[in-house]
Amino acid sequence: MRIKQLIKNLTNSRTSAEHQYDPKDFLYERKGPWPQPSPIHPWGESPAVIHLPWRETIDWWIWIGSRYLATLPMSLPYFVKGLIFPGLKAVSDEEFEDLLNYSMMSKFLTNKFDEKDKEVFKTYLEKEELDWYIVDLEAVKVVKTFEGIYASASKTLLHKVGERFIVKAIYIDDSEDVFEPKDGDAWQLAKYFMLQGGALCATLVVHPLLHFPFDSINAVSKTSLPKEHILFKLLSPHFRFTLPLENAVLNYKSSLLQEKWWMTYAPYPGGPSGLRDLLVEGYKGIKGNLSYPPFSYKMSSPKLEGRYGEYLRSYYQVIYEFVAEVLSEVEKGDFWISKWADYCNRYVNDFPDSSIIFEEDNLVKAVTTYLYTVTVAHAADHYNYGTLDKRQVPLRIRQQPPYKGIRMNPRSKLCNAVDLMKYYMADSLFFSPTTVTKLINAKYKFSEDYQKGAVIKFKEKLRIVDKELKDKGVDYMPLNKISASIQF
Ligand SMILES: [Fe+2]
Repeated sequence: MRIKQLIKNLTNSRTSAEHQYDPKDFLYERKGPWPQPSPIHPWGESPAVIHLPWRETIDWWIWIGSRYLATLPMSLPYFVKGLIFPGLKAVSDEEFEDLLNYSMMSKFLTNKFDEKDKEVFKTYLEKEELDWYIVDLEAVKVVKTFEGIYASASKTLLHKVGERFIVKAIYIDDSEDVFEPKDGDAWQLAKYFMLQGGALCATLVVHPLLHFPFDSINAVSKTSLPKEHILFKLLSPHFRFTLPLENAVLNYKSSLLQEKWWMTYAPYPGGPSGLRDLLVEGYKGIKGNLSYPPFSYKMSSPKLEGRYGEYLRSYYQVIYEFVAEVLSEVEKGDFWISKWADYCNRYVNDFPDSSIIFEEDNLVKAVTTYLYTVTVAHAADHYNYGTLDKRQVPLRIRQQPPYKGIRMNPRSKLCNAVDLMKYYMADSLFFSPTTVTKLINAKYKFSEDYQKGAVIKFKEKLRIVDKELKDKGVDYMPLNKISASIQF
């Protein structure tokens, strides 16, 4: 009995001794950043990382925060631009359809109709058997607009013919009515409200899911993986700037989400609480609405409709192959990866924990999703949104949502010069990408030859995919502008 106990003790002590690394083997000596419940919305938003190493905050201020400050004087020229070119621009039906087919708003396209969707478009769905799709912007309901500014939830019905989605009708929630092109001014207004909803849901419901849930992985990896571990070496070029950026967006009093009148860069139509609720809808989902499931860590290539989906899947595949090669010699049951997976699982919904991370290609998929999301998926969203004409895709509309027979005010009066200035400023500061470190220049501190070879192959394949996509006309963002991390 005593001998058995002695052997057991010896075995245990050897197991723990193997992992008694010196704190100096870790980036922040094991005192690095760590996720915690969001201070603003502990149960509705993803865990946040708010206690940051000074060196990360200073690095962010030097390269990014200072640019924000330097851009503030642009407010005046943008205001003048809003006076010279006032209000909104016309959006033809073809342009409108193109936006839903090809812009980042195509992310909303789905053929999953829930009960409310079926009810709203009953007459269409019963009359014709077509390949029906919907763009559901119900999330906009929570926005509490300022006086004189309007927004409405909406649902747009489309059907697919070949590769193209054809717009059939728009349902405007505030007026509880469905509009078609024959409705004249009401239709023109309905298009603006739908595009405004798309802009709100894109920037505050769907895009934030590429940011904030991934912060936990950033923090956990920096703090729990030894610097010499292969997984740390693979992930670390993709961490820079992100945590201070997220902290500024979520928690600074000067954040555009706070939306104060003096903020020349805060373009949204309503106050902070409604805007924050949009983030909650994205993360927690909307009950009964199939277009808004709760956030879940994806373990597959992106399933999106249209060209944008094709673009994203092409890059996902290249990143998957790179990750698979670099991690090919990781042993099943690797101690540090097991711990890392369990920590990530604690803070990120459906992240595979140590009991399944070594099954099949789960580890490669989990790491690919991180790498792909914080580089290509995130950057392409910004780049495409940046190219949209801000006078066609408004964030503020100064006329109430349409009803049948309404006369639309002159387009020049649908938003004012201050609205436009704020939108242009936000676009310049936050929406359009300003890349500091590029994916194509990412430096990995690998020591093995096969890993160094994998990096060379990876970059070659990135260049090939960039060219192939361009040749096909699936041209969303030039490779040399894709950032190595979330930095805008
Ligand atoms: Fe972003």
